[in-house]
Amino acid sequence: METSCRICSGPVKGSVDLGVQPRGNAFPKPGELAGEFFYPLIVGMCDSCAMVQLMADIPQEVRYHDQYPYRASNSTVHSAHFAGVAHRLLRTELTGRDRFIVEIGCNDGVMLASIAEAGVRHLGVEPSQEVAELARSRGIEVLPRFFDEETAADIRAGHGPADVIFGANVIAHISHLDSVLKGAVTLLGPDGVFVFEEPYLGAVVEQTAFDLFYDEHSFVFSVSSIRAAARLFGLDLVDAEPLAIHGGSMRYTLAKRGARRPTPAVAELLAAERARGLDRHATLEELNRRAERVRDDLTSLLRSLRADGKRVAGYGAPAKITTVTNYCGIGADLIPYVCDSTPSKQNRVVAGSHIPVVPPSVFRQDRPDYAVLFAWNHAEEIMEKESDFTGRWIVYIPQVRVL
Ligand code: TYD
Repeated sequence: METSCRICSGPVKGSVDLGVQPRGNAFPKPGELAGEFFYPLIVGMCDSCAMVQLMADIPQEVRYHDQYPYRASNSTVHSAHFAGVAHRLLRTELTGRDRFIVEIGCNDGVMLASIAEAGVRHLGVEPSQEVAELARSRGIEVLPRFFDEETAADIRAGHGPADVIFGANVIAHISHLDSVLKGAVTLLGPDGVFVFEEPYLGAVVEQTAFDLFYDEHSFVFSVSSIRAAARLFGLDLVDAEPLAIHGGSMRYTLAKRGARRPTPAVAELLAAERARGLDRHATLEELNRRAERVRDDLTSLLRSLRADGKRVAGYGAPAKITTVTNYCGIGADLIPYVCDSTPSKQNRVVAGSHIPVVPPSVFRQDRPDYAVLFAWNHAEEIMEKESDFTGRWIVYIPQVRVL
């Protein structure tokens, strides 16, 4: 299978095949399972710019609907991280008079709340109504739109140039990334920066985190692919900083061409990526083989536990659970329920695999023998919270293990 790159139109060859998948964050109600949306989840790399991307194109209106269930403030670790991001921006890029920051996909305002508190001019761009309302209730100004070239031009006309455009776990979601980059050029002031942090290809490959691929993640970025994409649209990659969040992310800083000198980290990370083959198809093909091994090991473990009469539950219903359960063919016959603290996911089921989502109180009362940790990127926080759990944890990233 081959398509053309969403960024540079170069040839993209499919290397990771995760089967037919529904939307990662659909979480349908048990009575609404007819007509679920499915598409082939195949991931490829562009021959020209090394951008890793989904081969299928899923309309964004299908993904970020009114009831989009993801809440960025749900994890205390994430909330602390984004308060830290805001305070760092306030100390660096947002000092001086009448500074202006735009956040793409501000979700429930987890980052902008600190900016608003500091009295700095801001605008959150958030098309999902429910989360936008949560942000508004925290005193944040929200524009309920998708960010693209046109939105950027309208914001500039209404508010003036931005000193910072920020995005977290959202830029890699946007399939019209070319329009976002053009919009950034339009909206940024001459010394403005576009800062975004997204799951990192290097971490996905290292940890065999194939479940980070789902419909919302149109791309998985690397330093080399972002540098190439930025260049195409008149921007320079001037800094890159590895982050631990979401199982391994990278924070990229882009500036207008020639406006800032790149930090040494950019060249160092580029050299490290070349050494690790992050710009080569063979690396994705190897990831595909390792994902197959995880699938085989996880399903055979769950089948043998069921044969032994053990009770197994799932812990955490991130979008990742949709990829892994549908790829492995794991349904409620192997994992009767999964608990999650997000009220808007509870009393619904995982799309495709139809495993019911229940509140954590059910898990605590039920005391299963084993719990599969689907929210593996929150392992520390969850294990600490569930220190009374007497069963055993099953993890499947980077390989299947019983802890
Ligand atoms: P997350 O990994 O942040 O997102 P994504 O959907 O992008 O993969 O999702 C973590 C999920 O785990 C989220 O639905 C909330 C849930 N969760 C709990 O149920 N309990 C917890 O203690 C934590 C930290 C998360």
